[in-house]
Amino acid sequence: MGLIGALWAEPGRESGWDSDDMGGATTRERQVTIVEVGPRDGLQNEPFAVPTPAKIAFIEALAGAGLAVVEATSFVSPAAVPQLADAAAVMSAIRRRPGVRYPVLVPNERGLDRALAAGVDAIALFTAASEAFCQANVRCSIDETFARFGPVVDRATVNGCWIRGYVSVAFDCPYSGQVAPEAAVAVAARLFDLGCTEVSIADTIGTAVADDVDRVLAVAAGALPLDRTALHFHDTRGQAIDNVAAAFERGIRIFDGAAGGLGGCPFAPGAPGNVATESLLSFFAERGIATGVDRAAVATAVRMLRASLGEAQATST
Ligand code: COA
Ligand code: ZN
Repeated sequence: MGLIGALWAEPGRESGWDSDDMGGATTRERQVTIVEVGPRDGLQNEPFAVPTPAKIAFIEALAGAGLAVVEATSFVSPAAVPQLADAAAVMSAIRRRPGVRYPVLVPNERGLDRALAAGVDAIALFTAASEAFCQANVRCSIDETFARFGPVVDRATVNGCWIRGYVSVAFDCPYSGQVAPEAAVAVAARLFDLGCTEVSIADTIGTAVADDVDRVLAVAAGALPLDRTALHFHDTRGQAIDNVAAAFERGIRIFDGAAGGLGGCPFAPGAPGNVATESLLSFFAERGIATGVDRAAVATAVRMLRASLGEAQATST
């Protein structure tokens, strides 16, 4: 979904879940972390360039809403993702809230150099569960992404960076179809072995259903530290919240979302918006599961972004 459409859509759809379904969880288990990816996954796919000050205000407002992790931008090739070409300006300008992480996507050492120069202390590496998507996204094989990551992880660690990893197209690939759960989990395991503290398993094109989530997490249960494994859903077919519910049942406590349901991937044809952060917040609030995030403040951040985009569009026409 495009930015304007996503911003005008009403997030917060309800699923058929009943709060009693989670009655067995202990207090410790009744909290989740929401990783806000709207400023990166959301804005990277917009045809309309979002002005840098609007991005900065959006990131600051999201952190102010209580989101402890706000993925802020990408230090990728500006030719590949022109929407985030202002990454250095964004990261140099944001006022950081104590206790909040602002990871940025880094594809290679060049990206790490740029990120470190801009004061970044949290990075996200990204690879894929299918070779075809990996080639389309970063122009190399999965093995080659790991070869690139080696020196990035070494230097990021020396510089005290927190490191997240992504497995894109962990369920279905837009180019090569269904992905075997074992293949997706194997890539996630490699990211953990490499030194990622947290790994996010992504349904990049939003085609997974709850049974698929069950299958992947059944394999993951024996192979990955589930307390450091995140799930990243896009909402193409309206299945994202049911998938979140299935993943929660399987022990996942970290979920990626994008404020306003922004999102998509320019290298994944048909990729729709991420599950809206507001929908995640409603889902968990209804079940008494703590997120520490103020839903109204997230909605305000989205309204602010929409207002500044309206102004920017008005002046550009
Ligand atoms: N930051 C800025 N510029 C970079 C860069 C980085 N991290 N990495 C490479 N470049 C530049 C090079 O300097 C070179 O510039 P030039 O043409 O002016 O000489 C150009 O990009 C190509 O470099 P090369 O090393 O040959 O990369 P590539 O063409 O094989 O592309 C990636 C590889 C990973 C850099 C590129 O595909 C990319 O940035 N992809 C981003 C994918 C993405 O963000 N997807 C969405 C998230 S899932
Ligand atoms: Zn995504």
